[in-house]
Amino acid sequence: MSTIARIQDFDDPAYDPFVSDDDAFGTCDDPYPQLARWREQADVHAFDYRVAMGLYPDVTMRDLPSFLVTGYDAVEKIFLDPQTYSNKVYARNLGISFGHSVSTMDAPEHTRFRKIFQKAFLPNTVAKWGDTLVDPVVESLMDRFTSRGKADLVQEFTHHYPFHIIYRQLALPPEDVKVFHKLAIAQTVVSYDVAHGTEASRKLGVYFKALLDERRANPGDDLVSLLAQAEVDGDVLPEEILVSFLRQLVNAGGDTTYRATSILLTGLLTNPDQLAAVREDRSLVPQAIEEALRWDGPVLIATRTPTVDVELAGVRIPAGACLSVASGSANRDPSRFVDPDRFDIFRERKHRHFSFAFGPHVCIGQHLARVEMTRALNAILDRLPNLRLDPDMPPPRVQGTMMRVPKHIHVVFD
Ligand code: HEM
Repeated sequence: MSTIARIQDFDDPAYDPFVSDDDAFGTCDDPYPQLARWREQADVHAFDYRVAMGLYPDVTMRDLPSFLVTGYDAVEKIFLDPQTYSNKVYARNLGISFGHSVSTMDAPEHTRFRKIFQKAFLPNTVAKWGDTLVDPVVESLMDRFTSRGKADLVQEFTHHYPFHIIYRQLALPPEDVKVFHKLAIAQTVVSYDVAHGTEASRKLGVYFKALLDERRANPGDDLVSLLAQAEVDGDVLPEEILVSFLRQLVNAGGDTTYRATSILLTGLLTNPDQLAAVREDRSLVPQAIEEALRWDGPVLIATRTPTVDVELAGVRIPAGACLSVASGSANRDPSRFVDPDRFDIFRERKHRHFSFAFGPHVCIGQHLARVEMTRALNAILDRLPNLRLDPDMPPPRVQGTMMRVPKHIHVVFD
């Protein structure tokens, strides 16, 4: 498909958003012991999680009283009571980068638009993408290193594959994708670097508007064409909502899946007996994925604000406060998960994890993320015999205070 839309790089093309990522999300090796200490004391705490962990405060939230929610019951209660715990607080940070996206909305507006977008990501649809989009991307990236006997699975594979899937979903011209990846990543640094976050958002917005015009005139079977024609209550979707969704998609879909897949591989490679079990019996793949998401889900914290003064777990919280809802802490709450710090794909799964959140804002892309991770893991097990950590290189180090990922996974194979 020919295109008239052109992507614009940062005014300073040397700016590297991948470095800013560390400042925005922190580099803590293991936030879980500290979270456990807080959780043992109380479910709710009157302080700012970022600051307490030694990070810059979120500049977009600085004027709000801050609270941290650590316990499973309190986290669940917040996700399931959207009338009291609103998503509108995201307008302050995600609103700058994504615009008026579904994450910044409450019902009834959220319900109205979410049902349109959700249709594009139903399990039946994404299952088809497994063959048409995911497998070709996974195969072509792996072709570059399978004959070498060693690889860095993050830098050569996981960091790229979900973004390449999105480029194909949106049918982006190949020459645009490098700048596109930079702009997508820079959107999330907004809580620490408003200037670059805003520049990325503006440039992606201009690009997506041009792309929408082009696909309206010349529809294909890509996601942009599909959404450009989608209707809400008989009208086409407002352009502002559509552009915001596309901006969010490149980030929510790319960055998170890259992180989750890297963590899944870390969990398995550092527990070779479990890796061997999955290699032997692929019916274990789904439970390995769910355990990786529970053990170290890449999105440690969600944000909400109470619409009225509330008392939660005995703590009074004023309306309008900023709540850091620690899904990552709830996922390791020993009241729900035995020996919670252990990566154990065989654990009894009686309680849900919150790595995709829960309630009306539960991740729209969760089915796609699972398909992507399944296809990626199976391909790695099929094509890299006797896969193991490279004994001559440092082992993977999952890092991050807000969002988690290892920067490298050095492996060898036969
Ligand atoms: C393993 C990968 C992923 C993880 C861990 C993840 C995590 C999350 C979480 C925690 C939320 C809720 C945020 C909140 O309300 O505070 C969310 C929402 C969302 N995710 Fe994902 N996500 C992943 C993959 C994807 C993919 C592949 C897509 C799209 C292709 C996607 C699109 C979205 C969208 C649009 C929302 C907003 C939903 C709403 O507010 O109604 N995500 N995700």
